[in-house]
Amino acid sequence: MRVLGIETSCDETAAAVVEETGELERPWRIRSSVVASQVAVHREWGGVVPELSARQHVRDICGVVRQALEAGGGGYDAIAVTQGPGLVGSLLVGLAFAKALAWARSVPLIPVHHLAGHIESLVLERGEMPRPAVVLVVSGGHTNLYRIEQPGRYELLGRTRDDAAGEAFDKVAKLLGLGYPGGPAIDLVARHGNDRAVRFPKTRLTHADRNAPHLPGRRDFSFSGLKTSVVRHVAARREDLGLDGLPPAEVADIAASFQRVVVETLLDRLFEAALWYDARSVGIAGGVSANSRLREEAEARGASRGLPVFIPSPALSTDNAAMIAAAGLRRYRAGVVGGPDLNADPSLPLQAA
Ligand code: KG4
Ligand code: ZN
Repeated sequence: MRVLGIETSCDETAAAVVEETGELERPWRIRSSVVASQVAVHREWGGVVPELSARQHVRDICGVVRQALEAGGGGYDAIAVTQGPGLVGSLLVGLAFAKALAWARSVPLIPVHHLAGHIESLVLERGEMPRPAVVLVVSGGHTNLYRIEQPGRYELLGRTRDDAAGEAFDKVAKLLGLGYPGGPAIDLVARHGNDRAVRFPKTRLTHADRNAPHLPGRRDFSFSGLKTSVVRHVAARREDLGLDGLPPAEVADIAASFQRVVVETLLDRLFEAALWYDARSVGIAGGVSANSRLREEAEARGASRGLPVFIPSPALSTDNAAMIAAAGLRRYRAGVVGGPDLNADPSLPLQAA
């Protein structure tokens, strides 16, 4: 079976063709994956402008789908589309397109949760994760920790109480004058900085309770305190120096110090949870998993604990439609299909079952 995946939840228009392999351990193969980024459209505004995003999706979607189908070598048996969460106007473009195409071609339509897509990107590339698995999804809108006992069932262990990790990267980059998108910019300049130059605080929320590890809020994250201390530090240094901007070497030090704290906070939680739940593998997915420091440290911690670490290649870390098609195949095999009344849901919850 082959699935055409369509993703338009934020600022990339993406389409892909993914097929089943018939192998249990490595269930899917990418035949094509096309991503049209809207970065250039949003750059001058310093962030994603929802109306511009929806309009750009309308312009790009036909070409992107056509390209994915041509490169994928023809047909498909079903269409998987991101139903939510995301920007409602943007989601609607992909959903309306997918619905119309599914109806015209008489193929099933499979609604997919965007974060299920990020999680399945791990399996798409490396095959099924040894379970139980603990997976961190870190993107511009989410910082969620999940436990997976059975494929396709995602149990939420913790989430951010304020800013998502990617959002913190984006805001700090803006503050440092590094532009948009912020994550890759910080990643780049941090390589030239001293990550111990500034001591930013690590926010640690309540430890997990041995008697009630399932309680919500027990493994949550918070990044707003860290962001505020970066804001204060930068303001104080500007005043000290009597400058509007800081010298590049100092910007690099701040970026590296901030990045170190985010990476350690994320990995401390991930590996604590892995220990707690006797995980046989851990995973990191979502845009922030493209971060080079996060990748290196996750690999190192995994190796020292003998735990396989699943991280997608950079191309599959950020938004794409191959992950949506893969998650769609998983859902289709579990019996899920959408009807003609399917609607976009900007705050769609990821069901445990
Ligand atoms: O998953 P994604 O492409 O879109 C959402 O679903 O949000 O994630 C985008 C986020 C942005 O906040 C971006 O700054 C961040 O991922 N990001 C990074 C890196 N590349 C992208 N953050 C840190 N380091 C990177 N190399
Ligand atoms: Zn995403």
